[in-house]
Amino acid sequence: MEQYAIHGGQPLIGEVEIGGAKNAALAILAAAIMTDDVVTIENVPDVRDTKVMLEAIESIGGRVEHIDRHTVKIDASKINDFIVDGEAVKKIRASYYFLGALLGKKNKACVVLPGGCNIGQRPIDMHLKGFRALGAKNEIIGNGRVETVAEKLTGAHIYMDVVTVGATMNVMMAAVLAEGKTIIENAAKEPHIVDLANFLNSMGAKVKGAGTDVIRITGVESLHGSTYAIIPDQIEAGTYMMAAAITNGNVTVKNVIPRHLESISAKLSEIGCKVIESDDSVQVIGTSQLTRTHIKTLPYPGFPTDMQPQMAVALALSDGTSIVTESIFENRFKYVGELLKMGADINVQGNSAIIEGVSCFKPAPVVAPDLRAGAALVLAALAADGFSTVEDIRFIERGYEDFPEKLRALGGNISKVDSEEELNRFKFRVVS
Ligand code: UD1
Repeated sequence: MEQYAIHGGQPLIGEVEIGGAKNAALAILAAAIMTDDVVTIENVPDVRDTKVMLEAIESIGGRVEHIDRHTVKIDASKINDFIVDGEAVKKIRASYYFLGALLGKKNKACVVLPGGCNIGQRPIDMHLKGFRALGAKNEIIGNGRVETVAEKLTGAHIYMDVVTVGATMNVMMAAVLAEGKTIIENAAKEPHIVDLANFLNSMGAKVKGAGTDVIRITGVESLHGSTYAIIPDQIEAGTYMMAAAITNGNVTVKNVIPRHLESISAKLSEIGCKVIESDDSVQVIGTSQLTRTHIKTLPYPGFPTDMQPQMAVALALSDGTSIVTESIFENRFKYVGELLKMGADINVQGNSAIIEGVSCFKPAPVVAPDLRAGAALVLAALAADGFSTVEDIRFIERGYEDFPEKLRALGGNISKVDSEEELNRFKFRVVS
């Protein structure tokens, strides 16, 4: 079974190039099918989730041409189906973006219910409320499919009861091809919302206010082709920044937008790391003793829920008691049991984790419970002096391109192994 074998204990030092934002790419790839012209998307991260999105586009009749590892050309002129189905699609949450994209393009969409990381209930009621306001009828049909159909889409005033990234993007997509004006209030403000709006505008849409909590859209009749580069991944960057803190290393993340990383940089400074920002890079220099602090996850520009497990790993090595409060998803502490195996002292009470810092982790075999927690466990294993393994790395591969390779370039002793023999070879190589 594929797993990461890790011999930890060395500080991570060096530079790492950050790829395109996964969560922006997933929405943008779906939105690319909304025009009949050819669209070229650059800086697409080569991770499992984006591959599934591209396969889904092909499965409904779209043409996907890989120009290079991170550039795809999409021709959706021959899309002949409005049903996005299949086992792979079911496993990724972002498949729901085909609802908004196809509803906008064809006034009809049918998509298998979203999967993704099991970090809580993750309803889609706000997506459906938005579609309904635009004139669609939604139905949950057999085999976990959601269908949304409209005779005609008409702009509407939509208030989101909760701040949701997914629903804001999905409704934005449908609304750009609706007749008249749409206002989305209490919209999410994440960098990928702005990226999707910029992409849609590059295709001729009229979206204003993305990045604030009121988005105003004037519907257009059709969208045209475009060439667009996706923004750098805030969470991939944050993960490597946290790696410097956790291993007392010195890591420069390159090709980033430092403004998107402010909440992460601020917390790293608070726990004693030195953070040096330049135009498109951020350097994090660790410290031999991290300082305790508290964090609460919040919608952007607050501290991202997708950085919560990595931050908790850093706090587990701090000098006192820290409290991590998760306010976005209700089931995001599943990694705690694994961290306890590594000697962490964490007690979960409701949506808070009370962390008593320990001086070091001990190596252990652990299992990734989801994407970001999986990455956090890898960082913990890289800090633990000795041999650890991380299983269920398929979660991690959903969102991190070349994770072991990039960590190795920073001096991490990590390898992906696929058999007992490979595992032993790695162990032996380390010992010898
Ligand atoms: C996206 C990201 C995920 C990130 C999350 C929050 C993708 C593919 N995933 O997930 O990595 O952790 O944003 O930054 O981009 N909610 C409702 N009703 C809805 C939709 C959401 O109540 O219709 C709730 C959710 O249960 C959650 C909160 O709103 O409590 C935020 O969810 P949302 O922002 O929609 O997250 P996702 O889009 O699922």
